[in-house]
Amino acid sequence: MARVGELAGNRVLVGIGGGVAAYKVCEVISTLVKAGLEVRAILTDSAQQFIAPLTIATLCRHRVYTDADFWAADHVRPLHIQLGEWADVFLIAPLTAHTLGKLALGLADNLLTNTFLASTCPVLVAPAMNTTMWEQLSVQQNWRSLQRMERIHRVGPGTGLLACDTVGAGRMAEPEEIVPYGLSLLWSGGDRNLAGKQILISAGGTREYLDPVRFIGNPASGKMGLALALAAWHRGATVQLVQAASLAVPAGGILSTTVVSAAQMQDALIQSFPQADWVIMAAAVADVRPQHYSAAKLPKDKLPVALPLEAVPDIVQHLSTLKQPHQRLIGFAAQTGEIVAPAIAKLQRKGLDAIVANPIDIPDHGFGSDQNQAVFITASGNQIPIPSCTKLQMAHHVLDLILDLALTLDPHRSSAS
Ligand code: C5P
Repeated sequence: MARVGELAGNRVLVGIGGGVAAYKVCEVISTLVKAGLEVRAILTDSAQQFIAPLTIATLCRHRVYTDADFWAADHVRPLHIQLGEWADVFLIAPLTAHTLGKLALGLADNLLTNTFLASTCPVLVAPAMNTTMWEQLSVQQNWRSLQRMERIHRVGPGTGLLACDTVGAGRMAEPEEIVPYGLSLLWSGGDRNLAGKQILISAGGTREYLDPVRFIGNPASGKMGLALALAAWHRGATVQLVQAASLAVPAGGILSTTVVSAAQMQDALIQSFPQADWVIMAAAVADVRPQHYSAAKLPKDKLPVALPLEAVPDIVQHLSTLKQPHQRLIGFAAQTGEIVAPAIAKLQRKGLDAIVANPIDIPDHGFGSDQNQAVFITASGNQIPIPSCTKLQMAHHVLDLILDLALTLDPHRSSAS
């Protein structure tokens, strides 16, 4: 299992099946290599009809493996054993109906399927096929059997336009869904240590409209909240995201509700709050709204010179009044200058269990960027710095810290099943 923050040198084995979606795997491999990972690839015979081994080898910066290598009589140790032991994570994409059937039944007649049986690492599978094929009883039975295996993680398939010009289920997950899941598996070792937890997360920046086109808002993109939602889902939690943004969430993974204003966000969170074990308020909520709203666009010469404002509800402070003893409430504090003291004041005022104080005046960190750094502060006064890292890495750090906190506060109820 990789320590969060350390990716360089971790090993991802990619098994490519024979489907047109194999072209998307090029993007996956390229992104993983750029992140500093070692990537090796196995192509089935039919995969080579869709994608050239040279393309994959060039992207991996390493030779690829095919069935010709599997049957070659020149190894010291069998190739499938070496590759199975080498991998930290095994990604199989596209997972075709035929390979799915073989994996579900424990059959092994080529390098990819033999390597699967010879490995023990977490396996991420991304099925891709025509809708009628996907919906066959036999395929669905195989799919259910495969998912009963503890080390199998799935991403997709989604619904959309397929290469056969039909619209339906069977579309392979996009690289933007596959890559974060693969990285999460490296950090978690495939451990579903949040299984059984219901986690409610807010994301994005709320908008308070003055008329149909003008609003008070902030530059929050929702990326931190989405990273938390993905990381929690990858670790087995049931996740609901309430987002004041337009973030795409993986099909079948995360329940997402879109809101605009602080009042709408409050309504959505209050509705889901009773079922939540943890609430993580990563959203940047506009603190004020215009006192008056005009349903018609105000002409330029009718715009008020001074805008009368009123406070919006403090959502998390309100949730803390509804909180049950087993529930954990975590806030975020985006700060300039000194970050810790103002965050502690917010934690106390809002009745939080912990707050993540993050600077927004460091170039390429915070709002809208893919990087973040923070100090995790608990109500009991612990301060744990989280050094600069990607938002997905930070999400794993934060989840680990909340898990520790929950165990400390309530060791019996909080241990993940
Ligand atoms: O805006 P502020 O720095 O006070 O935000 C700190 C925390 O409080 C964040 O978690 C934010 O989502 C939450 N908040 C809220 N309702 C508000 C303002 C902030 O829940 N009206």
